[in-house]
Amino acid sequence: MPGFHVVNHPLIQTKMAMLRSVDTGTKAFREICSELATLICYEVTKDLPLVEVEVETPLCTTTCLTIDKKFAFVPILRAGLGMVDGLHRLIPTAKVGHIGLYRDPKTLEPVEYYCKLPPDICEREVLLLDPMLATGGTASMAIDYLKERNVTNIKLLVLVSCPVGVDKILKEHPDVSIYTAMNDPELNGDGYIVPGLGDAGDRIFGTK
Ligand code: URA
Repeated sequence: MPGFHVVNHPLIQTKMAMLRSVDTGTKAFREICSELATLICYEVTKDLPLVEVEVETPLCTTTCLTIDKKFAFVPILRAGLGMVDGLHRLIPTAKVGHIGLYRDPKTLEPVEYYCKLPPDICEREVLLLDPMLATGGTASMAIDYLKERNVTNIKLLVLVSCPVGVDKILKEHPDVSIYTAMNDPELNGDGYIVPGLGDAGDRIFGTK
């Protein structure tokens, strides 16, 4: 069901407290991003349809249920990469596409610089990944890009969102569900989410 979902399980809230802290170093930050992605994935996939399969146990044959969908993860470069491992832990067969967009620091508008997707992406459930949903400009442009390539099943997974970005996506892409761990109150004048966690890319890759 499309819409906006805050996945606020106690484990997620606890890990988010660690992620936000300025004292959390690069290694721990990267690990926690990955763990949060795993936990959110659990919620994202909870309503997936199942099909019956016959399984031979050591004792007999039995009927089991299994997911019958193909997935693609599409991290928005570069911070979205920090969520891929955590999702692969639950869905190891997913293919990975990449969308490279950055925000022009003056206009805050997204600019495309690299995109590569699995050839059968339109047959897959697509999980679009970006730890931060700030203005929503980058995510909206990434969704446009996917839709132009006939992708129809898109879910946007973020770790921290804010109302401006959420409203933009829900208005421009009402068919796309958003899953977030936290919806923070505001954006500052530099386009950072407050209280947020700073620049997610820099903190994942240790570039600052
Ligand atoms: N991107 C980030 O990395 N952090 C923010 O707060 C907003 C956008």
